[in-house]
Amino acid sequence: MTQDELKKQAAEAALAYVQGGIIGVGTGSTVNHFIDCLAEVKGRFEGAVSSSEASSERLKHHGIQVVDLNSAGQLSLYVDGADEANGRLQLIKGGGGALTREKIVAAASETFVCIADDSKRVDVLGAFPLPVEVIPMARSYVARELVKLGGTPVWREHFVTDNGNLILDVQGLEIQDPAGLEQQINNIAGVVTVGLFALRGADMLILGSASGAKIYEP
Ligand code: 5RP
Repeated sequence: MTQDELKKQAAEAALAYVQGGIIGVGTGSTVNHFIDCLAEVKGRFEGAVSSSEASSERLKHHGIQVVDLNSAGQLSLYVDGADEANGRLQLIKGGGGALTREKIVAAASETFVCIADDSKRVDVLGAFPLPVEVIPMARSYVARELVKLGGTPVWREHFVTDNGNLILDVQGLEIQDPAGLEQQINNIAGVVTVGLFALRGADMLILGSASGAKIYEP
């Protein structure tokens, strides 16, 4: 099976968790499959809070109502992809640059179901460059601080987030303490969000694999 077929398999398996109300929807190619699946079960839920302009567009294209988080209250379910996931279901996210809104919607949700193909499962986070969203004027300062933490930040040039900010992708990290590093990077002035989802990781991980979708809990 191709990687895209495995992503689709995980997305289809996540449909079982859609039980009504307003659901949180993430961003990326795996979530695009999930949105396409949601279109088939529109009667089962009221609408969606989206983590990016791209996902909002896709949801609307399918006739699914996009709801502002401010009027949605606490969400029961959030479904999103990941760039890496460890055994404790701590994640690296932000490959698509939507990490800030993703972190907000994850925080506002009772259950975070992460969907991915099985290549995303790792023992130690960090082989995937860690995205950090920064306020534009802080780019160089934050980059110097990230070097002090042992990483090599690379500016994602020609990319602006939905919030009007920039992304530094930090290479060369072997993240032994994801929650500690998340806090450290959060504390750098000018950082909007770090793509480590460790303090609030996923509650469930669905991995598409050659032998079928596998479900993991921390
Ligand atoms: C976007 C994300 C995505 O969930 C992550 O990059 C995975 O993407 P894909 O499903 O395309 O592999 O965090 O900011």
